Amino acid sequence: MTVQDYHDFLAEILIDGDTLQRRVAELGAEISQDYHGQDLLLICVLRGGVMFLTDLMRAITVPHAVDFMAVASYGAGARDSAGPVRITLDLTASIEGRNVLLVEDIIDSGHTIASVLEFLSTRRPRTLRVCALLDKAERREAVVPVHYRGFTIPNKFVFGYGLDLDEYYRNLPFIGVVRPDKILPPG
Ligand code: IMP
Ligand code: MG
Repeated sequence: MTVQDYHDFLAEILIDGDTLQRRVAELGAEISQDYHGQDLLLICVLRGGVMFLTDLMRAITVPHAVDFMAVASYGAGARDSAGPVRITLDLTASIEGRNVLLVEDIIDSGHTIASVLEFLSTRRPRTLRVCALLDKAERREAVVPVHYRGFTIPNKFVFGYGLDLDEYYRNLPFIGVVRPDKILPPG
């Protein structure tokens, strides 16, 4: 199987690499200030949040631990998600009494993050906050508290910097918009 070059799918670069890195540094500084002198546990939702997580970790100057979880949305197509999610990979350690910061790539309808927050809160963390790189605010259906937000973006399908297009191109250092004629129907 040959995978096409990303240029075939790219309509425009929405956020270039330098702009991403500058914003991630700002978020890291803000988080470092807020959690100064406190325990901090970053939880990354696989797989889209990984690129953001690793850059954010390098920008956070307070001691912190990381853990990972993965979710799948019930019955939804690959390009869309709505409704409840299923935990496909659970955390390795207890979060009871800890300051948890959930690190996410993108909040679209908000259903994914709302379900994850509900799930995590049953385990009684001391605090629970959300750090999202991208926010498609106009698509929001669920109420989600976003404490740290990288960028608010328009309702366009994006890829790169952790976000995939059919599981590829997560390695791109920028956020690109997918050409509308290349977006396949879900499923
Ligand atoms: P939500 O449950 O509608 O908020 O969907 C969130 C999830 O949908 C994200 O974690 C992504 O996996 C995926 N998603 C939403 N929009 C995009 C996009 O533009 N590009 C890639 N993935 C997206
Ligand atoms: Mg995701």
